[in-house]
Amino acid sequence: MSTHEYRGLGDIIVTARPFDEYLAMFDLRPADLSTATALDCPAGASGFAAGARAIGCEVTACDPLYTGMTSHGELVARARRDTAFGNQYVADTPDTYVWGFFRDLDDHLSRRMAAVDAFDRDRIANPDRYVMGALPHLPFGDDAFDLVLSSHLLFVYPDHFDAEAHLDGVLELARVASGEVRMFPLVDTTTRPWPGLEDLRRALSARGHATEVRHVPYEFIRNGDAMLVIDGVG
Ligand SMILES: C[S@@+](CC[C@H](N)C(=O)[O-])C[C@H]1O[C@@H](n2cnc3c(N)ncnc32)[C@H](O)[C@@H]1O
Repeated sequence: MSTHEYRGLGDIIVTARPFDEYLAMFDLRPADLSTATALDCPAGASGFAAGARAIGCEVTACDPLYTGMTSHGELVARARRDTAFGNQYVADTPDTYVWGFFRDLDDHLSRRMAAVDAFDRDRIANPDRYVMGALPHLPFGDDAFDLVLSSHLLFVYPDHFDAEAHLDGVLELARVASGEVRMFPLVDTTTRPWPGLEDLRRALSARGHATEVRHVPYEFIRNGDAMLVIDGVG
């Protein structure tokens, strides 16, 4: 252990989960995506858009840090730094993680860094598909996407968003979805389940959005093996 005391990850970092990790986290098969329109929000430096585009998905990535191509190099450099920081966090808090999807720390680091590379190439080739936006106000029309994916923001950083911000954020994701919103994981970076989940589900139900907590065939943060599925048609 390092001498650094962690109380969860703290600040929101820019991560880069690769396409195959997204498939596992959201229990998707490539065929689910090949004819779909999809949104990844927040996308950070993830490799989802690159991988989905390669199999025919009409995919958009959205994040507040997509401020312009002039700063793209800085964002890629930050994603590399944050990916290295995240790998150190895994090393320093070993009880928080379950090995399986990743073999070990080196495998974790190299696959996440490869995702930064995929993000870098795909954003340079498709700058219009990386759109600046922040929850709870996204720059898309109602029902714009068949599938909306949201990983590692709401539920994961409870110090940054209160219950109201969670509800506003999820309602906004649902507004832009004509099909499902899938959100993962439902625990924070100390493995604690987000305590407001059942109240949130009741509030969504009252607004006409059916929800389901669905088990997925993936776990990296311990206890993080379920997603929230929200019917976008409210
Ligand atoms: C931990 S990363 C997750 C990225 C990606 N989903 C992944 O799993 O690799 C969190 C991202 O949330 C973005 N973010 C922070 N506040 C946000 C907001 N209000 N709305 C949308 N994204 C936000 C950050 O810029 C950061 O890139």
